[in-house]
Amino acid sequence: MKLIDSIKENARLDLQRIVLPEGHEERTLKAADIVIQEGLAEITILGNKEEVLQHARNLSLKNLEKASIIDPKTSPKREEYANLMVELRKSKGLVKDEALELLNNPLYYSTVMIKNGDADGEVAGADNATGDVLRPAFQFVKTLPGITVVSGAFLMFMKDKEFGDDGLMIFADCAVHPNPTDKELAEIAIATAKTTRAIARIEPRVAMLSFSTKGSAQHEMVDKVVKATEIAKAMDPTLKIDGELQADAAIVESVGLKKAPGSPIAGKANVLIFPSLESGNIAYKLVQRLAHAEAIGPVLQGMAAPINDLSRGCSVNDIVELIAITANQAMRKK
Ligand code: ACO
Repeated sequence: MKLIDSIKENARLDLQRIVLPEGHEERTLKAADIVIQEGLAEITILGNKEEVLQHARNLSLKNLEKASIIDPKTSPKREEYANLMVELRKSKGLVKDEALELLNNPLYYSTVMIKNGDADGEVAGADNATGDVLRPAFQFVKTLPGITVVSGAFLMFMKDKEFGDDGLMIFADCAVHPNPTDKELAEIAIATAKTTRAIARIEPRVAMLSFSTKGSAQHEMVDKVVKATEIAKAMDPTLKIDGELQADAAIVESVGLKKAPGSPIAGKANVLIFPSLESGNIAYKLVQRLAHAEAIGPVLQGMAAPINDLSRGCSVNDIVELIAITANQAMRKK
């Protein structure tokens, strides 16, 4: 069975409440229709109820009558949510009128729904930039205890099955944090190892990537990766991790043997941790396009509740898959 099929099968076992803030967006409505039809999640769509249902009729979607549709501008929960927002952000100077204004924005309303326990997870971003999806989540849902940084992993399904585990590799951070410190990079490695077990369902072998292998170059950027590897090992002594490694030393056995003899990871890595967002984002897009790999994600990790961001170029199927993944994350959290 394909991994995504088993993720969907798992989602059907205990339906999670997933909120979709972009109720005006065509691909999102089509995806919601499929998710309801396939029984993958309970769906809440944010938007004006009449407009959403009319849009659904225009698209000949039959299942959206079964979704819960909430208009953030008229919802009876506005007062309760605004009070919660003020409570959470009073140290930042948030006052009630500002909170009520923010709630008009569905991307804020959805995160406060999650914080208040009225939804288990969120998928957005088909029509909004990453920063606009993430900022409300950072402000109101925040990170897991012990984690300070949210990052984004991609499941990369390579056509060439010799890499990773039968062609499956995990790349991070490809989506969120532009320039992590050594400590933050270590957290990203730990979080990605968890995502690898939970979502990709394989045992992680983590390579901390650099332009240097085991001291072949000297630079402060290399030092950061060496230090991050040490910190990650201290955070989880059982984790199979090594660095600093160049990409070829990480994934090609003959190169790994030559450049990093004795390394438990060199030549065998299935998780690649990039030293910066720049390198991670560029790498996943190049592998996706040049090697025709299927890229699923970004799966956001480190957030206190599962909130996932789509690429604006996403397909309906991408949204359905990310909803199923978000439901799986929500089940694990419970
Ligand atoms: N993890 C956790 N919290 C964070 C993170 C993070 N990675 N980054 C910022 N925060 C928190 C801050 O601590 C702050 O919290 P506070 O208000 O309670 O003090 C809050 O978020 C806002 O912080 P800012 O520094 O003002 O955040 P800003 O809005 O400037 O930046 C953002 C955050 C938008 C995510 C920024 O890092 C960004 O733009 N990243 C790049 C996203 C992107 O464009 N990715 C590429 C496209 S995605 C793709 O191709 C798949």
